[in-house]
Amino acid sequence: MNNPVLAFDETVRSRSSVRAFLPTPLSDEQIRAVLQDAQYSPSNCNTQPWHVHVVSGETKARLAKMMTVNDLEGRQTPDFTFSYEDFHGDYIERAYEQARLYYEAIGIDRDDKVRRKEAYLRNYQFFNAPHAAFLFMPSFGDNIRVASDIGMYAQSFLLSLTARGFAGIPQTMLGFHADMIRNELGVSDEYRLLFGISFGYADTSAAAANTRMPRVPVENSVVMHG
Ligand SMILES: Cc1cc2nc3c(=O)[nH]c(=O)nc-3n(C[C@H](O)[C@H](O)[C@H](O)COP(=O)(O)O)c2cc1C
Repeated sequence: MNNPVLAFDETVRSRSSVRAFLPTPLSDEQIRAVLQDAQYSPSNCNTQPWHVHVVSGETKARLAKMMTVNDLEGRQTPDFTFSYEDFHGDYIERAYEQARLYYEAIGIDRDDKVRRKEAYLRNYQFFNAPHAAFLFMPSFGDNIRVASDIGMYAQSFLLSLTARGFAGIPQTMLGFHADMIRNELGVSDEYRLLFGISFGYADTSAAAANTRMPRVPVENSVVMHG
């Protein structure tokens, strides 16, 4: 059975990135309901360029292990770059603030490099989530517009999870080992891996499931004309 669906304002305001999950799996029917919702996302010219691979059980466990080993041995093969050094101004300040608030919430001192590394590596364990969706896309031009379509899809997916009483987290880090993931899942080289979403039931007893990130006022983001 699907869980009851929340009202939109409650859904959008209560969604947050959860970094602690219960092992309890969703049923195939529950996963399918979320996938069905996400399928209604808008896309440039209705191209619907999302190619999604959902992993659970043994496959998920194998990928978790391989991503961790790859990372510890210094092997990463992301299809798209990611670096804090690319952020600047207000954006890097917000990124630092996010990290500060998260580590504070889970009780890790900012100078404790060992525990910070452990927390970073938990990304590859899908934060214990029973399922993860890898979001692949075809390559069109400079890839900006197709990537924005994948973002649309991801937000529908995340809001659907929330509305149905589940939880998720989008993770750029799940795209850091794209070659290995493609190989393991039998995905053709023509698809790029943008990011992944771990999902399941939030472990609400854990601080990592209860952090809430601040938002700047609307006026900082929007200019009204006319
Ligand atoms: C595309 C995308 C990729 C992200 N990648 C990661 C990630 O790899 N690891 C992580 O812990 N959080 C990741 N996040 C979560 C963000 O840190 C989070 O969305 C942000 O701090 C706002 O918090 P909220 O989602 O709880 O509102 C990602 C978010 C997005 C949208």
